[in-house]
Amino acid sequence: MIPPIASRFVAGETPAEAIEYVDGLNDRDVAAILNLLGEHYHERPPADEDAAAYRDLVTDIADSDVDACISVKPSQIGLDVGEDVFRENLESIVETADDHGVFTWVDMEDHETTDATLDAFEDFARKYDGDVGVCIQANLKRTEGDLERLADVPGKVRLVKGAYDEPSEIAYKQKERVNEAYRDYLEYMFREFDDGVAVGSHDPAMIEHAAGLHDEHGTDYEVQMLMGIREDAQTELAADGVETYQYVPYGDKWFSYFYRRAMERKENLLFAVRAVLGR
Ligand code: FDA
Repeated sequence: MIPPIASRFVAGETPAEAIEYVDGLNDRDVAAILNLLGEHYHERPPADEDAAAYRDLVTDIADSDVDACISVKPSQIGLDVGEDVFRENLESIVETADDHGVFTWVDMEDHETTDATLDAFEDFARKYDGDVGVCIQANLKRTEGDLERLADVPGKVRLVKGAYDEPSEIAYKQKERVNEAYRDYLEYMFREFDDGVAVGSHDPAMIEHAAGLHDEHGTDYEVQMLMGIREDAQTELAADGVETYQYVPYGDKWFSYFYRRAMERKENLLFAVRAVLGR
């Protein structure tokens, strides 16, 4: 059981708890992106174990009929052990997910993983007819070229601002510059991407910009936000007919994820403190 302090941001420790949570989320017309917490395994056994857990999860999703897809981290399924291990595990997940009609997202980690992640995404998106998506970070200076490369690849791309503290030689450091890049990349994606655009942001300005671009170009889009953040906005977007996804983490490695969420904003920390005090 996840203690109340963390239950705003993490759906449970087990797949059954996560799926029960998703069932309730679907009642608000919000779909889920399930993520088993775990990253940076330097040995093969835990990477293989999490890959197996994802394969079981997609069968659970299909059996329970919830509206959910999955998102995996490359370093969780073996990238720190070797690119071959990562690709083998990713393909086993994508193949099983594809067999069960479940979409697979690949999260993007720090810049040293970008090439390996994009290469694997491109190969499997082509092989599995676009049933795979990848995350792209607006803060990286290389992203313009990466989006040009991905424009003709089947599958979806989630645009985020970028969560990793990257060196200034390769990344924009100023918030305003990242926002400007995010807007420019949204414009490019709405113009050039046929398989739709995934807006991975809580930022009302970016979501409004995406809605305007959708009106202008007619390109399909979806908004993705994290569990526990702007939940009301998620419900409102879904009620307004915008395809809305919530990224739902679960698993026994919840503490460091919860700690990151609690520390990134004053409101999140206050919420956690109130949960402890029972108010
Ligand atoms: P940003 O933090 O710039 O805030 C802009 C505005 O959004 C704020 O002024 C406020 O109005 C609103 N807002 C933001 N957070 C809020 C909060 N907690 N409460 C209330 N309002 C809030 N990163 C990565 O590097 N690789 C990845 O694979 C992913 N995957 C991913 C999936 C999904 C579904 C999401 C939503 C995000 C990611 N990210 C990610 C994280 C991403 O890179 C980024 O760090 C965060 O989304 C924060 O940036 P925002 O665009 O949300 O807003």
